[in-house]
Amino acid sequence: MLRLLPANLTGAWGSPALRVREQGLMALSGGWLGPMAPPKCLLVPESHRFDCYPERRVVVTQELCESRGCCFIQSPPPAEGKQGVPWCFYPPDFPSYTLESLNQTALGMVGVLVRREKAYYPRDIQKLRLDVEFETDTRLHIKVTNPRYEVPLDVPQVMKRAENPIYSLNFSWDPFGVLLQRKATGTVLLNTTVAPLIFADQFLQISTSLPSKFLYGLGEHRDRFLHSLDWNTLTLWARDVPPTESFNLYGAHPFYLLMEEDGNAHGVFLLNSNAMEVVLQPAPGLTWRTIGGVLDFYIFLGPDPNMVIQQYQQVIGFPAMPPIWALGFHLCRWGYGSSNETWQTVRAMRNYQIPQDAQWNDIDYMDGYRDFTLDSQKFTSLPSLVEDLHKHGQHYVMILDPGISSTSPHGSYWPFDEGLRRGLFLNTTKGQPLIGQVWPGFTAFPDFSNPDTHQWWLENLQHFYSHVPFDGLWIDMNEPSNFMDGSEHGCPPGELDSPPYTPAVLGDSLSAKTVCASAEQKVSVHYNLHNLYGLMETKATASALVKIRGKRPFIISRSTFPSQGRYSGHWLGDNRSQWKDMYYSIPGVLSFSLFGIPLVGADICGFSGSTSEELCTRWTQLGAFYPFARNHNTQKEKAQDPTAFSPAARTAMKDVLLTRYSLLPFLYTLFHRAHLQGDTVARPLFFEFPGDVATWELDRQFLWGRSLLVTPVLEPGVDSVTGYVPRGMWYDFYTVRSITLSPDCSHPCRSLPAQGSSVNSSGELLKMSAPLEHLNLHIREGSILPTQKPGTTTEVTRGNPLRLIVALSSDATAWGDLFWDDGESLDTFEKGNYSYVMFNVTQVGWSPPLLLQGHSVTKEGGEDSVWLSCHARVLGKAFPSSLLSRLYPRMSPLSPQVLTVSDLGMSLSQGFSLQWL
Ligand code: GLC
Repeated sequence: MLRLLPANLTGAWGSPALRVREQGLMALSGGWLGPMAPPKCLLVPESHRFDCYPERRVVVTQELCESRGCCFIQSPPPAEGKQGVPWCFYPPDFPSYTLESLNQTALGMVGVLVRREKAYYPRDIQKLRLDVEFETDTRLHIKVTNPRYEVPLDVPQVMKRAENPIYSLNFSWDPFGVLLQRKATGTVLLNTTVAPLIFADQFLQISTSLPSKFLYGLGEHRDRFLHSLDWNTLTLWARDVPPTESFNLYGAHPFYLLMEEDGNAHGVFLLNSNAMEVVLQPAPGLTWRTIGGVLDFYIFLGPDPNMVIQQYQQVIGFPAMPPIWALGFHLCRWGYGSSNETWQTVRAMRNYQIPQDAQWNDIDYMDGYRDFTLDSQKFTSLPSLVEDLHKHGQHYVMILDPGISSTSPHGSYWPFDEGLRRGLFLNTTKGQPLIGQVWPGFTAFPDFSNPDTHQWWLENLQHFYSHVPFDGLWIDMNEPSNFMDGSEHGCPPGELDSPPYTPAVLGDSLSAKTVCASAEQKVSVHYNLHNLYGLMETKATASALVKIRGKRPFIISRSTFPSQGRYSGHWLGDNRSQWKDMYYSIPGVLSFSLFGIPLVGADICGFSGSTSEELCTRWTQLGAFYPFARNHNTQKEKAQDPTAFSPAARTAMKDVLLTRYSLLPFLYTLFHRAHLQGDTVARPLFFEFPGDVATWELDRQFLWGRSLLVTPVLEPGVDSVTGYVPRGMWYDFYTVRSITLSPDCSHPCRSLPAQGSSVNSSGELLKMSAPLEHLNLHIREGSILPTQKPGTTTEVTRGNPLRLIVALSSDATAWGDLFWDDGESLDTFEKGNYSYVMFNVTQVGWSPPLLLQGHSVTKEGGEDSVWLSCHARVLGKAFPSSLLSRLYPRMSPLSPQVLTVSDLGMSLSQGFSLQWL
């Protein structure tokens, strides 16, 4: 039997064993050699050892290891808290599946896989079906199944086989393996022969080599954006826990993006909702290890990272278009003692004219923390507060938890009584509602996989809405979180709650701080559906909100799964008021950009612990550029809304929020592009500069779209920040000044001479001035940003004239666009009720004549009430004095590089053209 060697060792589909043997021996010379390791084991270099004994609670001995037919070689123990090289690993000839037959189908191929020798987990499945579909030229679908649970997710059905795929697929027959290559470069993207395929009832495992170490995604985790491949296990099992490195967190996203060495990118999605872990190792290699479902892979070939993410969302669905007010500033707090206290904060914000679009309440508003109730003492004035918010063009959002209190006297709490009557809760194996504990005490958990539960949820919401006309919902605790492990009675013995193998979940048990895996739901057992609980609750909530309000739903959910972006946004959970947490929010936000959930942010100023004025100021500056910007605080901590600080800090926060609001048309247009085709909003730098390897590790800065670079301060006590500025001209956002750098700035990085400087970068680290009141923002050359004079709500801002910022490239061109609609109606794009304008500047003939054009693609019924009463600032061209002396009445120069054209009364529904002669 031939096992093919890792692709990056062989470089091709073959096995130059000699080379591997050399590498193996080299690796061994630094390692601890087991006493009797057979020669075939010695052939495997350390970095290529795929773990044969991942059980964590067992000390693996040579005897145990060899009882599985694996190789045992001890390596030096890893540093504290780290994982190391596995001591027990697969030999090259460990039994796997054989591909017995392979036949062509209309869309690809169908094959049969057979395992002749059992592996070591119970209920090995001996015969499997292989389906391959060449879905598009850039998308491949490979599925290994037998009839069993599959994720109930709508995915596109393809009717026609791809004609010119940019990939080529080959198989190893015995042992079975997949080899996927990018045709243009020959790069091996996947080679699954590096370790055996295992497909037992509750243990499925497949490994692959990777073409580079630049791997992103695989959420939800607190980690750097670029994951380490130094023996790193990432576990996916929805869990309520304050974000901590290496823990499984609130959501599950089995998707990675990988940058190939030459700047191409691809992505892999495993459509599987069971508890799983993904092991990354330095080979570089990756192992998917899941305990149920099937192996259903989608592979996206890009070739650039933007395209990979778009292609991923073509499968999971494009994100919903949020209502425009969702892009304003949100304020929340756990522990507003009353509706009056909440109202006071709103008034204080208005008093200082600090932008705010939405006021939120946490569980305080409820009576005994029970959903759909109102504390009639402390929150009596809530309906009036909501009315007042609406009068001011503001919105109200409140929290809802899935746990339904089960201890009220019968007949006094409709949500539980009726849910029980209709049989809508998760049941134990004995057919009784499973009872756990959340904020209100004992609770039952609605089964959102049951359509009847959606109806009941709607009725509850309708009833509450008739008292408190809320505008959006914050759905929390939906992992689902349980303060008990399993239930009030624990969990029954059996293979669902005690599977043969438990992935590296926090608490070492599937039921740790959640319900029993054996709980019964309409569609399947909770064992299979756990990671989908939040998504299913979100779907029920979104459809209820549409029925109740008839407008775009606004939902922020804590637990998420692929396709979540179609229904909600997400916040990053219970962070701490610490500088480190502020930094981690950037990789968090960028990861959710990859997961197709662009509406994402962290609790600004930190949730638990007490913030400081400096931290909160810096965090508000960063948070003003989260796509979803909310300040939220835990109970019993000091107030941390902007009005709680000194005049200087308050002003700095107000200013940066006004800056956000001034960019509303730009931000809204980015969300449109996300909705339309899966573009990212908060974007990693390497998405725009995939050819610049220096950008691949950056996660302390990010872009909005393709053109606005955000470089926040993430440390205390500094008045400058060092950031990477990719090659090209970047204009300071505030002064739009272009200046020339002095040539002799000191090593290692140049400094921008003054705050408010633009820069012509060669692709380098630059030290930027950043006093406490300043956030560095730079506009990329060649872009046009639509902006507005900011008001204190998005409603006011929307009414103000538009202003274009035109940042010319070195060859005097620029491009930008604007999507505009009424900001809240359903499906405006789909129905054609919008305006869309593309702006561009071209140079006609010799410099200057410049032509600024707006091409309108407005459909019937589009928003033509918005007038392009422009203040078009054209940056970057050294306009000659002959032009400046001949200015048209409405043009005025700010400096030789900035030309302002104001008050162009033009309707958005018509195109326009403006030329400098
Ligand atoms: C959870 C949420 C947090 C909320 C708290 C009380 O911890 O993550 O945001 O404030 O519950 O509802």
